[in-house]
Amino acid sequence: MWPDLIQKAKEGGLDAIETYVFWDQHEPQRRKYDFSGKLDFIKFFKLVQEAGLYAFLRIGPYVCAEWNYGGFPVWLHNLPGIQLRTDNKIFKDEMQTFTTKIVDLCKEAKLFAPQGGPIILAQIENEYGNIMKPYGEAGKSYIQWCANMALSLNIGVPWIMCQQSDAPQSMINTCNGFYCDDFKPNNPKSPKMWTENWTGWYKAWGGKDPYRAAEDVAFSVARFFQAGGVFQNYYMYHGGTNFGRTSGGPFIVTSYEYHAPLDEFGNLNQPKWGHLKQLHAAIKSGEKVLTNSSSSTKQIGNGTDLTTYVSNSTGQKFCFLSNVNLEDANVDLQKDGKYFVPAWSVSILDGCNKEIYNTAKVNTQTSLMEKKSDEAENSTKLSWSWVSESMNDTLSGKGSFTDTKLLEQKAATVDLSDYLWYMTSVDIDNVTQWTDAKLHVNTTGHVLHAYVNQQLIGSQWEARGNNRFVFEQPVTLKSGTNIISLLSATVVLTNLYGQNYGSFFDLTPTGIAGGPVQLIGKGNVVKDLSSNQWSYKVGLNGEDRRLYDVHSPSGSNWTLNNRLPKRVPMMWYKTEFKAPSGTDPVVVDLKGMGKGQAWVNGQSIGRFWPAYIADKTGCSQTCDYRGRYHTGNCMSNCAHPTQRWYHIPRSFLNKDENTLILFEEIGGTPSPVSFQTVTIGILCGSAYEGNLLEMSCQTGHTISEIQFASFGDPQGTCGSFKKGSCEAANSLYAIQKACVGKTNCSFEASEAKFGSSTCGTTSKRLLVQAVCN
Ligand code: GAL
Repeated sequence: MWPDLIQKAKEGGLDAIETYVFWDQHEPQRRKYDFSGKLDFIKFFKLVQEAGLYAFLRIGPYVCAEWNYGGFPVWLHNLPGIQLRTDNKIFKDEMQTFTTKIVDLCKEAKLFAPQGGPIILAQIENEYGNIMKPYGEAGKSYIQWCANMALSLNIGVPWIMCQQSDAPQSMINTCNGFYCDDFKPNNPKSPKMWTENWTGWYKAWGGKDPYRAAEDVAFSVARFFQAGGVFQNYYMYHGGTNFGRTSGGPFIVTSYEYHAPLDEFGNLNQPKWGHLKQLHAAIKSGEKVLTNSSSSTKQIGNGTDLTTYVSNSTGQKFCFLSNVNLEDANVDLQKDGKYFVPAWSVSILDGCNKEIYNTAKVNTQTSLMEKKSDEAENSTKLSWSWVSESMNDTLSGKGSFTDTKLLEQKAATVDLSDYLWYMTSVDIDNVTQWTDAKLHVNTTGHVLHAYVNQQLIGSQWEARGNNRFVFEQPVTLKSGTNIISLLSATVVLTNLYGQNYGSFFDLTPTGIAGGPVQLIGKGNVVKDLSSNQWSYKVGLNGEDRRLYDVHSPSGSNWTLNNRLPKRVPMMWYKTEFKAPSGTDPVVVDLKGMGKGQAWVNGQSIGRFWPAYIADKTGCSQTCDYRGRYHTGNCMSNCAHPTQRWYHIPRSFLNKDENTLILFEEIGGTPSPVSFQTVTIGILCGSAYEGNLLEMSCQTGHTISEIQFASFGDPQGTCGSFKKGSCEAANSLYAIQKACVGKTNCSFEASEAKFGSSTCGTTSKRLLVQAVCN
């Protein structure tokens, strides 16, 4: 997907691509590196360069990024004597080895700008300043060491540290956030840079879909350049998918769409992509003035400011006129004109007397994306085969190592799997004491399945945002030996609040670590099993046998008959399917499934959990862009599965036969599962008078119908436009003629093109709603 995504970023008006480097992926085992396939970051940077763009290398190697364990490999945690992100020799040696490795690879490939490469900037650590206090003096010396270590690598381009207000010089301290216009770097000579402008927000299991309006993102960017900013990066411009088990805290789903300008599948998220593209063009039209000028800001009214940049060489001017109020403003700049500046918006004025852009006036299409069923696939129903997870060994208490305590899960699994079996046995002679007993487990894992004497007695998972719960279920023990097998599953490796962020986040225990695990008998008699002899097994047998891999020799055990097990925990399912035709992105709808992991042709497409339903409350039908955005604002998808559709990149697919394999942990029904494509369903165009209306379906689709068109004073939002009190009579016909049957069309919003309207001299607007087929 890289070339297409990079191209779309370039067309969107970006000059540089910023990316993190993920330590856990590149060094999954100590000193065993992987830079192949999708981990070939050198190739990524070369593609960026071929596209004519610059690059920004954010090594971290702690990256946060809602990535598992913040990007740290878990073997690091297991090195004796190590302390992460502080002045600890063992950690620093590992960090230096990895950072040097990455830098050396870039140097060999001649990727740094002085070598003729695209990389113009690099980052060490990540927002350490926000969490460094509890590390005390060791934190201060660590950040100093980070700076010296990075500088010693001589990369020939500047290093930055984000959110590090005491960044040692010559590290450049940069800002991250929804707004950074007020930010001042710690050195007055440093450029004012914004490394993460959060275009939306992430989504956690149980959470809803975030939405940050295009008008507000544009406002934040324009305010930043108005206030002297020189470098602004979107986080994310494309968030994509957390394939495999890479999702991190807080309890992040497989999709990392982030409401970014390029959606999870690489489609343009419109109007955000287009509105920002026009903003970039407007700002760049003033580039010569902005980069060689002095500026001054004048307060026009309360909350209304005019910032004037005057070129030192030519005297040319470029202005930003902002209104940070929640009410619209009419500004009279005398000889330089009169301007309508909507609430919470910035107008960009070329020559300080001509509006070329306003952040709240959207002249870009809105695309309502749709999932479409593939006809070919629909005509042949999927046929499923299945095999149950073999648990004969674990349900009989047999593992691969033992201990007399309840182990911490990530130390035991080294994160090779989400799963760890904890097994023990207990001898009962007085049965009456233990007939109506309870099994009590205190866990810091996310999910627990408890089996006693081969029977599942209960499953439980954490309530959202809480990494710790108590499991207590009735159990009847028998005389003699009873076997207790507990399967603990993690969803991400995080701290107690489910975050991979914060001081000492890495030390939070996961799994049944320490317990206690107890049996509670009649009269509340407690038998504490925590110091029993425990037997352990990392991962599932199906994982060991690589059941997810079509070429695995154990693949022959699948059963194909019409007694497909439904809602049965611990099942593997398999089906064959044809890739949907065309070029639209492909998703699998996992409606009906519970929780687990999915693979296509042996590649993991991530964890699924459609049984996890988003909160019922907190969604809004409409969204007001005005005012400071905060997470939780303008949410949608209440009371639906947090994530129902899972992305299958076309590059994972064969032309003919493909295999989908699901591991279902809590019980689900695969019969409703289907493959779909993602494309534009409804398309809405908007253009203010004098601007060009441009509309475009996805490649391979055409506009089949114009459902609404009015040049005048129409109202409403895409999907519910209404005519106003005046319009040009032939609005609909003119647009039908220009657009129906075409993939793209454009039309100028003017009386010259539409003929005269009944609106008189008031400024008009064109709104169009069309269908793509
Ligand atoms: C920042 C962090 C990013 C990401 C972001 C939230 O604080 O640097 O890596 O986690 O928050 O999406």
